[in-house]
Amino acid sequence: MSTIPTMSAPARDVPETAFDLGGTRTSGEIRKLSSLLEISQALSSAMNFKASLHRVFDLLEKSHDVVRAAVSLEAGPRLPLEVAAATGGRDHGWQAGAAGGALARQVFASGRPVVIPRVSREPSLADRRLDGEERTFVCVPLQLNRRATGVLSLELRYKPDRDYERTGKFFGVVASMIAHAIKVQRLIRADRDRLVEENVRLQGELRERYDFSHILGTSRAMQAVCEQMTQVARTNTTVLIRGESGTGKELIAQAIHYNSQRASKAFLKVSCAALPESLIESELFGHEKGAFTGAATRKQGRFERADGGSLFLDEIGDVNPAVQVKLLRVLQEREFERVGGVEAVKVDVRLIAATNKDLEAAIAGGTFREDLLYRLNVFTIFVPPLRERKTDVLMLADHFLEKIAADHRKRIHRISTPAIDMLMAYHWPGNVRELQNVMERAVLVCDGDVVHAHHLPPTLQMADTSEAGAMQSLESAVAAVEKDIIQDALKMARGNRAKAARLLQATPRIVNYKIRKYRIEWRRFE
Ligand SMILES: Nc1ncnc2c1ncn2[C@@H]1O[C@H](COP(=O)(O)OP(=O)(O)OP(=O)(O)O)[C@@H](O)[C@H]1O
Ligand SMILES: [Mg+2]
Repeated sequence: MSTIPTMSAPARDVPETAFDLGGTRTSGEIRKLSSLLEISQALSSAMNFKASLHRVFDLLEKSHDVVRAAVSLEAGPRLPLEVAAATGGRDHGWQAGAAGGALARQVFASGRPVVIPRVSREPSLADRRLDGEERTFVCVPLQLNRRATGVLSLELRYKPDRDYERTGKFFGVVASMIAHAIKVQRLIRADRDRLVEENVRLQGELRERYDFSHILGTSRAMQAVCEQMTQVARTNTTVLIRGESGTGKELIAQAIHYNSQRASKAFLKVSCAALPESLIESELFGHEKGAFTGAATRKQGRFERADGGSLFLDEIGDVNPAVQVKLLRVLQEREFERVGGVEAVKVDVRLIAATNKDLEAAIAGGTFREDLLYRLNVFTIFVPPLRERKTDVLMLADHFLEKIAADHRKRIHRISTPAIDMLMAYHWPGNVRELQNVMERAVLVCDGDVVHAHHLPPTLQMADTSEAGAMQSLESAVAAVEKDIIQDALKMARGNRAKAARLLQATPRIVNYKIRKYRIEWRRFE
């Protein structure tokens, strides 16, 4: 605690012993100590700061003759003081004086306390007397880092025998405790501001990442999907996203959440297929303490944690019948019980489900509840497989190439025509995810600035037979590479075969022979 500066208005000559245990002052000292303890507790409690100050004022009024109290703080560098908390209700005169009165300003500027034993004798305070009763005025600085950041102003009942030096010291200690609390509070506020700022930035980043514009596709099918997403995002409707593996279902689920009114709340994902059957129920709905062996404490499930936000149930086709019943109930009544619990928990969660399963077949096979499908089926988005939207392939390939090449710090500018032909001919059983993997591999093996056909995996080299899954022969692989290289040379030579031969350091005869052999339409490059 800081030392108390000397009083500007000492009253009497008092010895410096703090605790005169044998004297009459003992009970007063004990009262002061216990007040200081209570004040420090009030200031360190989790209440908001203003409430803490009022608690301190109450304590001072109760045990220390305080009639009115105010804490005024500087609003900013070179700005006047402002009242942060004050008693005295609507007495604006008192509050104005506590913040802007001549004495308050003097204490703030000098950093030294002032005690006026009799307010009636101080001209600048003459208007402060309540009911004509005599008062004592005390104003002490709130010191932070050796300079005043505000003042504590107090009016006490006048007592002729008061020891004014001790009074000043006592309130000086109180002031230094308040100053310390202000410091802590400012640190907390700075921390919170930083976190809030960080949160806003991250949310913006997420929103941007899952912006609809990041879902690529100019095909009519994808345009329709985007239109549906836009329609449904604004609502609270349950969405079911259906499509083969790797078609972008999760991306769409995220985009719906981050473009909805729930964007600032949680987006939680549960992979129903990845969780063991025994865990999924408590994962989704939480459990009570002792619900099963190992349930040592109560745990919130994802439904509770997603309250106000969205819950993405991936692979919904894989949930077991018991969980299906519970899901049905949440969808109907928006409530559920934790595992081992009886109390109904209400939640406000938007459900987005996805599956690549044939749910109708699952219903026929008795593994999926028909009534659950009806509940989920409110708004269904079908994501078409990539082979049915070939016009998206190039755009996606270019996008992945650019992104992955940048990640690997490689300068790869384009995809060669033969490679494009192969990408277009392939039937993409793994959909967009497979295309992404193919481009990743191509970037890794590519040694120049063009992705050639031979940078693509063998499955694509023989696109027309790939459905049979056969391995390609050495001869056909070499042929594909050769064809690719010659086509590239022809492109650079703008269809001039002699020039292409020079570029390849081969004779025109050989190049012409290969052009015929591979049926390359060289005129295409003219
Ligand atoms: N239209 C698209 N534009 C850009 N990237 C896409 C698009 N569709 C899918 N992707 C990307 O392809 C990958 C696979 O997508 P996602 O995980 O959303 O598929 P999924 O349908 O959930 O697959 P699964 O059924 O296997 O879980 C992701 O990296 C995703 O970013
Ligand atoms: Mg998925």
